[in-house]
Amino acid sequence: MTNTELVLKAIDAMKNSYSPYSNFKVGASLLTESGKVYTGCNIENVAFGPTVCAERVAFFKAISEGEKNFSKIAVVGGKDGVISSSTPPCGVCRQVMREFCNDNFEILIVRENANYDKVLLKDLLPHSFKPEILTK
Ligand code: THU
Repeated sequence: MTNTELVLKAIDAMKNSYSPYSNFKVGASLLTESGKVYTGCNIENVAFGPTVCAERVAFFKAISEGEKNFSKIAVVGGKDGVISSSTPPCGVCRQVMREFCNDNFEILIVRENANYDKVLLKDLLPHSFKPEILTK
């Protein structure tokens, strides 16, 4: 699976976004170390609070299927599904990523024309509160 293939899967997942309140569609595609891909989209709610981001949908789908090891995720978003700038993961999603991934987990933040910036989780969430803190 190339990075570009993963990016295209995130763009495809964005089409299923349920976002009638923000009209901001987000898609994510999560690659496991064994090469499987789990996708997600944002799912909003009239009460706003229950809204779930695309990244967490992808992670929770994978975790609930027994996956434990992840190598990278691609994230894409845009108003009405038009990708006009990058959509970095929100703070809650960064914390969820740190639960299941190490500091070198790769995040592909998609821009226009399926271009992307590759960043590491440690750069998005420095000095993280991580599982190792409670287990050592
Ligand atoms: N959203 C995501 O799906 N992922 C992020 O990391 C940022 C925000 C969604 C939540 C909401 O449905 C919409 O984008 C606008 O905030």
